[in-house]
Amino acid sequence: MTNQAERIIIFDTTLRDGEQCPGATLNIDEKLAIAKQLARLGVDIIEAGFAFASPGDFEAISKIAEIVGTEDGPVICSLARARHDDIKTAAAAIKNAAHGRIHTFIATSDIHLKYKLKKTKSEVLAIAEEMVAYAKSFTDDVEFSPEDAGRSDPEFLYQVLERAIAAGATTVNIPDTVGYTTPSEFGAIIKGIKDNVPNIDQAIISVHGHNDLGLAVANFLEAVKNGARQLECTINGIGERAGNAALEELVMALHVRRQYFNPFLGRPVDSEQPLTNIDTRQIYKTSRLVSNLTGMLVQPNKAIVGANAFAHESGIHQDGVLKNKLTYEIMDAQLIGLTDNQIVLGKHSGRNAFRTRLKELGFDLSETELNKAFVRFKEVADKKKEISDWDLEAIVNDEIQQAPDLFRVELVQVSCGSNAKPTATVTLRTPDGEELTDAAIGTGPVDAVYKAINRVVNVPNQLIEFSVQSVTAGIDAIGEVTIRLRHESRVFSGHAANTDIIVASAQAYVNALNRLYAYLQSPEQQQQLTAEKV
Ligand code: KIV
Ligand code: ZN
Repeated sequence: MTNQAERIIIFDTTLRDGEQCPGATLNIDEKLAIAKQLARLGVDIIEAGFAFASPGDFEAISKIAEIVGTEDGPVICSLARARHDDIKTAAAAIKNAAHGRIHTFIATSDIHLKYKLKKTKSEVLAIAEEMVAYAKSFTDDVEFSPEDAGRSDPEFLYQVLERAIAAGATTVNIPDTVGYTTPSEFGAIIKGIKDNVPNIDQAIISVHGHNDLGLAVANFLEAVKNGARQLECTINGIGERAGNAALEELVMALHVRRQYFNPFLGRPVDSEQPLTNIDTRQIYKTSRLVSNLTGMLVQPNKAIVGANAFAHESGIHQDGVLKNKLTYEIMDAQLIGLTDNQIVLGKHSGRNAFRTRLKELGFDLSETELNKAFVRFKEVADKKKEISDWDLEAIVNDEIQQAPDLFRVELVQVSCGSNAKPTATVTLRTPDGEELTDAAIGTGPVDAVYKAINRVVNVPNQLIEFSVQSVTAGIDAIGEVTIRLRHESRVFSGHAANTDIIVASAQAYVNALNRLYAYLQSPEQQQQLTAEKV
């Protein structure tokens, strides 16, 4: 491929940059579930992690490389600092992928050189060249990033990129690491690179950007107009600080406004050929999966995937939409895979109907996952007569969630009301198989349950976020609880779905505590190079 690529390449970094945001930490099975869904979504490259950061990251990348990195699957990539040991570890992690990429980087801005790297420009030039060549000794597919390119001296940037391409980089990625540039500035940086790096036609120009000023998506679209052909983005825009450019926003902007963008890719204005390889109908499902597994809620007014993104509240708008959808809608909700939420199954539905509907919804479960989800389905169907598509999705996502099964909720009982002191009794099964019961009084039933759970688990933590959302309307709806708690400086999240929101609250809390408990138990996790994470 050259940077004359005729379509936009989507590089997803949800599992690397996205997973770096506080509390979004995923375990290996969860990462694998997301990687499989990203492959169904049709991303070209999955940056599956930073192999050198921890043995857990390494294992997750290796597993994704082996299972998702098939011949016709996406390229599997690992990040690596421009260091021998990082690059060697990245190469080992991606070795089982049919198509593997090493993404190596070093900072190029004056501020990073002076304070972080304590290196001169000529030292950085030499390192970039040597490390790209080293990465190239493991794979042909090497990406190089000059970190903080957005604030780097352009002349130095051109030199580094030229040397990296000469050493074998096939993609050069331009990061706005601190989300500082404006769209016209970022577009000008890309144009400057195209005009001033002599061998730029031997590499794809990629962009990577953070959303500190809310400009990441706009910056990327301007970059596309100036020659960028790979976009590094995350589902729901999760990521370091204010997050990364959101995949769904970029893809839908390029889709809905393709007539505007076509000429920039050398196509006739009216070309209907998609600008990306993304199956847009998988967008909503991918967004829900990532939100449920990371505990990072999607704000209701979030473009494309927010709960209100397709809702019309004003009477004037509703009237217009009823007369003709195009009056107030620029895209059809079905385009992103939002179904009409049909009532599909009930208490008497069997395994076959359950399996068939899940297949139709695009869930590809293993036999074990299907069995677990079916047991949950029966439990829910006993309480709730009609099960809709959205209920099914909540059940499946809840079952896929693989928080370490250390403590398990066996019983939750509360007594509360206008003239009662909220009191809770809980029984938990401990990691040793023992059943422990405790009780507590709280300011409300959930507070009482959490206090009782804390008396059993006994690990100091501070609850920093608690949210309940109903999956469908109706008094018997499934409630989804998402919580985030802090232990020292780390954040852990938990998620659970149940028709009883007190039970869902208890399960979500125990889920997050299990992640915290597993972290405390695992010396390897504690040695994780968090300080080194980029
Ligand atoms: O934000 C950044 O600069 C990065 C690089 C490692 C690409 O994440
Ligand atoms: Zn980044």
